[in-house]
Amino acid sequence: MRRPIIAGNWKMFKTRPETSAFFTALIPLVRDVQHCDIVVAPPFTALSTAVDQTEGTRVAISAQNVHWEDQGAFTGEVSVRMLSDAGCTYVIVGHSERRQYFGETDDWVEKKTRAVVKGGLKAIVCVGETLSERDAGQALDVVRRQVRSGLGRLTGPDLSHIIVAYEPVWAIGTGRTATPEIAAEMHAEIRKTFAEIYKAAAADALRILYGGSVKPDNISTLMKKEDIDGALVGGASLDPASFAAIIKYI
Ligand code: 13P
Repeated sequence: MRRPIIAGNWKMFKTRPETSAFFTALIPLVRDVQHCDIVVAPPFTALSTAVDQTEGTRVAISAQNVHWEDQGAFTGEVSVRMLSDAGCTYVIVGHSERRQYFGETDDWVEKKTRAVVKGGLKAIVCVGETLSERDAGQALDVVRRQVRSGLGRLTGPDLSHIIVAYEPVWAIGTGRTATPEIAAEMHAEIRKTFAEIYKAAAADALRILYGGSVKPDNISTLMKKEDIDGALVGGASLDPASFAAIIKYI
């Protein structure tokens, strides 16, 4: 049985006081939750506030990006060691917004993922096709390529430290969720691709999250699908009540 994960990606939202207010509201709402792991990814500046506020709770804190080097002259970048020191236990890698606006490539995704795993954190690695790629019938090929070139050279044991998030770009922030059938088809394909590279048991244990306009009213249908092991939530994770409702999808 794969343990579900509900993760919130705040993107470039929330100051430290807003972060404090969020956790003050969220924590009592999810205190009794046992059925899934809960992860929140605030911006870098709010990480320590989030770590302090969630100490002793079941909420884990994630960064949204990382550099693969340990330290060095890389202005504006942050290393795995620094994130670990700040109390993060997860890092999101290869989000489509980073691929689209900041030139992140499959090669960087691989370097970052390796660095995260080596540094003892867990990587939430994002893949997903654009609308034009889907319309051209290339969705499966694009995602298979992202998996093979970004994640195809890890070791079997590394795989237990990664989580994959399938986020079709056309569903992000658009209110247009992939149907559970479209998501399930891609999740099964992703798992199959991993099974071609790694041992079947490792591919079977891999957790694959869906992301793209996940809301309290569509989460439970998505979670009923066999290969969907959780969600990476953007907009709806900014509000404690809606994020709590998604966490309590059962
Ligand atoms: P939305 O839930 O706002 O569509 O964002 C999804 C996403 O990009 C999460 O990483």
